[in-house]
Amino acid sequence: MTHIHFFSGEQIPVEMHKTKILQKLTLIPTQERLAAIAAAGYNTFLLQNAQVFLDMLTDSGTNAMSDQQLAAMMVADDSYAGSQTFTRLERVCRAIFEKEQFIPAHQGRACEHLLAQVLVKPGQLVPMNYHFTTTKAHIVRMGGIVVELPHAEALDPESTCPFKGNMDVGALRRLLEEEGPESVAFVRMEAGTNLIGGQPFSLANLEDVYAVCREFGVLLILDASLLADNLYFIKAREEACREMSIAQITKAIAKNTDVIYFSARKLGCARGGGICTSDGQLAASLKELLPLFEGFLTYGGMSVREMEALAVGLEETLDEDMISQGPQFIAYMVDELHKQGVPVVNPPGGLGCHLDAKRFLPHVPQNQYPAGALAAALYIVSGIRGMERGTLSEQRNPDGTEPLADMELLRLALPRRVFTLSQVKYAVDRITWLYENRDLVGGLQFVEEPATLRFFLGRLAPIGDWPMQLAQALEKNLSFSTL
Ligand code: F0G
Repeated sequence: MTHIHFFSGEQIPVEMHKTKILQKLTLIPTQERLAAIAAAGYNTFLLQNAQVFLDMLTDSGTNAMSDQQLAAMMVADDSYAGSQTFTRLERVCRAIFEKEQFIPAHQGRACEHLLAQVLVKPGQLVPMNYHFTTTKAHIVRMGGIVVELPHAEALDPESTCPFKGNMDVGALRRLLEEEGPESVAFVRMEAGTNLIGGQPFSLANLEDVYAVCREFGVLLILDASLLADNLYFIKAREEACREMSIAQITKAIAKNTDVIYFSARKLGCARGGGICTSDGQLAASLKELLPLFEGFLTYGGMSVREMEALAVGLEETLDEDMISQGPQFIAYMVDELHKQGVPVVNPPGGLGCHLDAKRFLPHVPQNQYPAGALAAALYIVSGIRGMERGTLSEQRNPDGTEPLADMELLRLALPRRVFTLSQVKYAVDRITWLYENRDLVGGLQFVEEPATLRFFLGRLAPIGDWPMQLAQALEKNLSFSTL
């Protein structure tokens, strides 16, 4: 990784790329933002992007592509069956992950759908380091039960453990001994564990998990959607891997898995997804479902242009300079907020900066969705759109009761290579102001609540008129009342 020395002693990340294409942004006035979030049911998913200044909702499908990726899109071979583009992508996946089969799919959750459909039987358990929303929904839909086996410090936002994404291997062994391997559909490890703040696992932990899986004869599936960040952290934080190249670490990870699937909206900075495995029988079962749900075997719902971009993007994932910008910008944002006393998830992870809403808004009870309220409040005061990752992102139990999430996070994603440092500084400034004025923020309640994945389309209302009071306080504090 390239480090640029500043004689001033300042420690700021420097991009090893330059901007060639840009998109104009606008920051609409505070009162318009207040009206926009009300019209969106206080759900940032329902805002129009034209109403948003900095879109930190997600890194999914929003990463900046390289010139090489855009150039590759021009040579895409447009054919339904047997496209040369697919052959190129398949070859790249084989070379990187050393698995014989590549099964294309239209995005990450499509891979989860196919895998759950083939592997999960009603009542079976799926142990994992931590769940992701769509993963869990697909497993539960097939009658499976998710068993979380996170690292002891995974859910503590203040712990400085460098590998909070590690699985509790002892707990996995006990579960397999007590329940028997036949009751386990598969074991799942998620790279750059999304819902606990983009936290990585170590190569050593993955090796231990895989050894237990081999011993009991159960499949280990890796969700590699956030693998690029995890690779960076293994290289930066794991002593034994310091001298390894990113390609070598990738191969070592792949060797300790039976199946790798990914969302190419994140990994490879394109759009699409796929499953890699050398298990011929499993691949055959997945391929049987492909034409029914995704498309023909040589595109799986992806456009040929995206497949070309993905092939190049996956190769670029092995370039340390290409994958270090995201984690380094996130570390800068987290560290600056931490210095101001703002509660954030530490250590900085991948994907984005995560605000800890439980400590940010201790006066808002969890059943009034503090992380959702924080998302709405931040939009009002800054035009920045984040994503709630807390109780609102959970699903009600069949009896209608509401499980309270382990963590209440507001995720501020930094799509790879998209934002400048001055934009990150603006975010830090407004978040700090909001923290100083946190008593003004109240809770939310549902007005319309969908049964599945309610955070996408649910509509809420504020409890009290706090959004208006917050907007007024901001305007009073600003020298330009229009901003
Ligand atoms: N697995 C992980 C770890 C993810 O973060 C995502 C998506 C998926 C699977 C599903 O992939 O969106 O291509 O269907 N995460 C997005 C996010 C939605 O905003 O974090 P997909």
